[in-house]
Amino acid sequence: MSTSIESVLETLGLSSSSENAGCFNGKIWSSSGTNMNSISPSSGNTLATIKQASMEDYNSCLSMMESARYTWAEMPMPERGNVVRLIGEALRVKKQALGSLISIEMGKILSEGLGEVQEFIDVCDMAAGLSRTIAGQVIPSERPGHQILENWSPLGHVGIVTAFNFPCAVLGWNLAISLVCGNTNIWKGASSTSLVTLATARIISEVLKKCNVPEGVFTCVIGSGRTVGESIIQDKRIHMVSFTGSTEVGQRVSESVHKRFGRTILELGGNNATVVMPDANLDLALRASVFGAVGTAGQRCTSLRRLLIHKDIFDSFVARLVAAYKTIRPGDPFEASTLLGPLHTKTAVKEFEEGIVEIKKQGGKVLVGGEVAKNLPASLAGGNFVEPTIVEINHDAPIVKTELFVPILYVIKFKTFEEAVRINNEVPQGLSSSLFSNNMQLAFKWMGPTGSDCGIVNVNVGTSGAEIGGAFGGNKETGDGRESGSDSWKQYMRRSTCTVNYSTKLPLAQGVQFDF
Ligand code: UN1
Repeated sequence: MSTSIESVLETLGLSSSSENAGCFNGKIWSSSGTNMNSISPSSGNTLATIKQASMEDYNSCLSMMESARYTWAEMPMPERGNVVRLIGEALRVKKQALGSLISIEMGKILSEGLGEVQEFIDVCDMAAGLSRTIAGQVIPSERPGHQILENWSPLGHVGIVTAFNFPCAVLGWNLAISLVCGNTNIWKGASSTSLVTLATARIISEVLKKCNVPEGVFTCVIGSGRTVGESIIQDKRIHMVSFTGSTEVGQRVSESVHKRFGRTILELGGNNATVVMPDANLDLALRASVFGAVGTAGQRCTSLRRLLIHKDIFDSFVARLVAAYKTIRPGDPFEASTLLGPLHTKTAVKEFEEGIVEIKKQGGKVLVGGEVAKNLPASLAGGNFVEPTIVEINHDAPIVKTELFVPILYVIKFKTFEEAVRINNEVPQGLSSSLFSNNMQLAFKWMGPTGSDCGIVNVNVGTSGAEIGGAFGGNKETGDGRESGSDSWKQYMRRSTCTVNYSTKLPLAQGVQFDF
């Protein structure tokens, strides 16, 4: 490993030699649960030990949040926005170290690790601006001397449960907006990326402390298994749960939170397709497809899984794709030339291997890759490296309808644009999609009512790598709700519809007479 874990951890206030407290209750870092280790996906070595949060620690977070709630809610929104702006500034200072830690612990290449911190910084900038522009509507009333207006208030307590693949940015999407909206927050990051959780939470907590923000506005728990995560889901005090993870777990989150009339934002599995038409700029389509499928080792919810290629260009485009894949060697995420780092866990390697067996059973033909990586340098021998893989397969093979969270790309031939749209929409998931074509008619059809049914519908841009300014999220089994940009903030606030009578009469709506 070219970057020393010790120096990165030290810069971020953590330790590799002693155990790190896995709970911040808004005031202090302390935890009384069992120990767990963070493991490097590149080498298999233990990086550091974390003492997890116990139920007692969790409850201490919640009571701190309850005491902070109304002071924070009453602070003017632009003042809260300034706090978020300063979080962005602090992240700028620590970008290199935090980005490196993401690459060390999650396994993504350094440029993507840094990009993730940048994504958090960007959303802080946006949220700071929002804090001076969030507005309700003023609506004409049918009654004389009346006016209807919408007032937005904080929701209360927000639970943010994030996944290993974006261990920093996805917190940012939620937290920056939720803070501006005036909520208190509890964050549970994936336990396998606990160091990133602790380092990110530490940066935030230092800013909050400097700003004299009420203690409890932001809290954080580390916990593997179901204990603390389950509490966030079940806890009636938590008004909204934003959950990123598998469709299977998301379904349970949805049932539990909605049963108690809480709100959710669910960002679950994707199964994203790119459609390449013969008139497209094929150089762009190639670059976008390789990044979409190989970037983050295929572990983004927006990763490209299904590449739908028109029959007239299928053979030549696939040949270029296979040639490009042959130049990509799995390797050290810190090497500038590496485009494919390790998978995050050994379980993911197993998913890859079992996936390939099943793909072959279902008639899939491996065109390149398909194996666990060999001939790695000794320092990476214990890592989770697999070959980037392309498979030719029929679009209706059952495995194509499921999400394998690994760098396996299906190439699928189609005859007409309408058929490609049908294939795009025939999977249960609905996160991201993209069309490569210079035909304006097709582009607008693709974005319209009979086009892609996903939450993200791109043209001449790949499926992954969305900017924070747009609302992020999907439909169908991807869940519901939108994060980061556009009007996603509305989900973090409660709306009051206020009818105000400034006349001296009391007329009733709809012309109802009720005189006595
Ligand atoms: C995720 O994989 O959970 O659009 C998020 C993208 C990134 C975020 C991915 N901005 O690929």
